[in-house]
Amino acid sequence: VSGRTRRLAVVTSGGDSPGMNAAIRAVVRRALFAEVEVLGVRRGFAGLVEGDAEPLAAGSVGDIIQRGGTFLRTARLEAWRTDPAVRERAIGHLRRLDVDGLVVIGGDGSMRGAHALSEQGWPTVGVPASIDNDVPGTDRAIGFDSAVNSVVQALDRIRDTASAHDRTFVIEVMGRRCGQIALAAGLAGGAESILVPEQRPDPDDVVERIRRGRARGKRHSLVVLAEGAGRAFDVARMLEERTGLETRVTVLGHVQRGGNPTAADRVLASRLGAAAAARLIEGRAGVMVGTRGDRVVETPLAEVAASPLPGVDPDALALAVILAI
Ligand code: F6P
Repeated sequence: VSGRTRRLAVVTSGGDSPGMNAAIRAVVRRALFAEVEVLGVRRGFAGLVEGDAEPLAAGSVGDIIQRGGTFLRTARLEAWRTDPAVRERAIGHLRRLDVDGLVVIGGDGSMRGAHALSEQGWPTVGVPASIDNDVPGTDRAIGFDSAVNSVVQALDRIRDTASAHDRTFVIEVMGRRCGQIALAAGLAGGAESILVPEQRPDPDDVVERIRRGRARGKRHSLVVLAEGAGRAFDVARMLEERTGLETRVTVLGHVQRGGNPTAADRVLASRLGAAAAARLIEGRAGVMVGTRGDRVVETPLAEVAASPLPGVDPDALALAVILAI
């Protein structure tokens, strides 16, 4: 950013996550605190390519800290990644709108998109937001805690009906490439088995754990399966055949993505949104803000884009196995 920063833009991109609204609010109000204006870009990178933006005042982001989704809306745009001309069009709009820097709020794909824009010379700062929690460079992405809490609430309910009928349930949760939702929710919900994409599932072990639980008088068995770890109906059929126990499937799907953000996500979003605005105002760009422990840290977008996805913590997975005997 050359000279004094006068105007920023903010965009939410990729899959929405609870807390994105709180992050937009923090970007806007932190910028206004420094007497910097903010434009909100609608519909993710797709809207940016069309120059679809609106000015945001302090009041425009009132009454949204508690709401899921993103009031700016979002999109997935494949051409953003593959076509530099598409990004060049977006830069043209940002120049025309007299913007000095852009905050991109989104998951790992959006952080790679932010990096591409930054490589093309545009001052960009990333804010990690994804229910999958699969963004390198931060302990937590905005929305993960809310999604995990939604899953745990569902597991508690399923356990009631599972116990009433002496049934096994296979509960499919989100996470195509990352088992963090499955692991955290499975641990918090006391699941017998947690199946994640990072580890090849062992069917014998899943069956054995259910048999052992029943032998000690357990009335229900919960198997939490990340969507990337297998097909819930196939797993259920296999379990029913091998254990002889009635087995049902619940696919939680997008129920996990919506809903009010938890307090933890609102706090995280507030801290990271404000930190992103502050970085751009100070003239620092090409980074993603995140947390390590309780500290806000920054990581070059180049490093975020080049890092492998953070997977599940093997110790936590091993603990879940020990506790669910
Ligand atoms: O990345 C977030 C996420 O919810 C994943 O867990 C899931 O695999 C994917 O998005 C679903 O994408 P869509 O909403 O585009 O179907």
